[in-house]
Amino acid sequence: MKPDMELVQLPSLDLTPTRAPVVKRDFSRSRALQRRAHRLIPGGAHTYAKGDDQYPESAPGFIAQGRGCHVWDVDGNEFIEYGMGLRAVTLGHAHKPIVEAAYRQMQLGANFTRPASIEVEAAERLLEMIDGADMVKFAKNGSDVTTAAMKLARAHTGRDLIAICGDQPFFSTDDWFIGTTEMRAGIPKQISELTLTFPYNDLDALSRLFDMYPARIAGVILEAEAGDPPKPGFLEGIKSLCEQRGAILVFDEIITGFRWHLGGAQKYHSVVPHLSTFGKAMGNGCAVSALVGKREIMCLGGLEHDRERVFLLSTTHGAETHALAAAIETMRIYGEQDVVGFLWQQGERLRQLVNQSITANHLEGFFEVTGRPCNLVFVTRDQSRNRSQAFRTLFMQEMIRSGVIAPSFVVSFSHSDADLERTAEAVFEAHKVYREALDRGVDKYLEGRSIKPVFRRYN
Ligand SMILES: Cc1ncc(COP(=O)(O)O)c(C=O)c1O
Repeated sequence: MKPDMELVQLPSLDLTPTRAPVVKRDFSRSRALQRRAHRLIPGGAHTYAKGDDQYPESAPGFIAQGRGCHVWDVDGNEFIEYGMGLRAVTLGHAHKPIVEAAYRQMQLGANFTRPASIEVEAAERLLEMIDGADMVKFAKNGSDVTTAAMKLARAHTGRDLIAICGDQPFFSTDDWFIGTTEMRAGIPKQISELTLTFPYNDLDALSRLFDMYPARIAGVILEAEAGDPPKPGFLEGIKSLCEQRGAILVFDEIITGFRWHLGGAQKYHSVVPHLSTFGKAMGNGCAVSALVGKREIMCLGGLEHDRERVFLLSTTHGAETHALAAAIETMRIYGEQDVVGFLWQQGERLRQLVNQSITANHLEGFFEVTGRPCNLVFVTRDQSRNRSQAFRTLFMQEMIRSGVIAPSFVVSFSHSDADLERTAEAVFEAHKVYREALDRGVDKYLEGRSIKPVFRRYN
């Protein structure tokens, strides 16, 4: 099942600016909480991507509750959300069957001194979905499983270096990855030097790394697809290069899993890696992730081999029963309903609606929607057509004014046609202001400081 579905012809939206002026929102509770939060929590949030520097100053500071793709902030303002939970919530906030499955399991106990039977059930369910994966270890977040994949590749090959795709945004909170970013304070350079980088879609560059460091690269990790699609033969080429040079190929499916295809981007692109990692959407927002792969590699973490033992993902909360129950229910829903197909369909509808507004507001070359429909992002450019954080801030500011929180256009199973149409109206209003700002200067329209990239050396 490739989700390249035929799209229903969309009625074209009436994009004439007829909306009533937007009411001024009260954010007083948010602002008070933000002041408290910054005194107590470095950065005021537990995830940089949710931080104040990632949003316009006029954004809601704290969310109180969510249902479907709608959220209410602590002041009672309602918004449509995109990219919910950093792309983790693909079915919808507080999705009833998931809440009920997790709650049922919670009532039976969260964690025991010996394994819970649900660990086997969850393992069977996930491995049925992922071709070529024989074994799985569950964990609580994506970073732990990508780090475990790197350790396993090193242990299996007896080599020390790893190669990562350098133009993909994120693999792990651990030093082997963060040491390659601008924000690497606290990470010894000896650790950073063990990670090599190659550009996406550049097989020759990876091949050169293998030549420069003969028999030293243990593993290669990349997202099968993030921004641009793979060039024909690129993913197949990486796999055969790894096999020729004795390295382990790891696909990071933390975003692509449960979006590109039921079997992940590896199924969508028909290239099976040796190991792969899943997280985010797997539990519809509950903390659960997985490292899956070939038995001969994964078994090094087990009890039935005579090689040196590998400490593979052993954590107190690794198999928390209600998160596994949420994952099983998520997988059941994905199996019964075409969630992936819906994400592609609604993403494509939204792309068409936003493109209508781009044309109507003469923003071609300044505002662009990119990526697969199941994972749409937008690019903002200034008058010189350079990428612009100021224009990103302005767009998000204007969307929030119309009741939409859109750091991306990543849709969920709960983004209805009505939600998309309300979003399209907000986009049209935001684009009108964008157009004016291109002509008259963005500073005249910004209500506060600009957003900054997470990975920067200084504040
Ligand atoms: C592609 C990718 N890999 C790994 C991770 C790390 O996952 P987590 O934040 O759950 O540790 C992320 C998180 O954004 C990601 O996008």
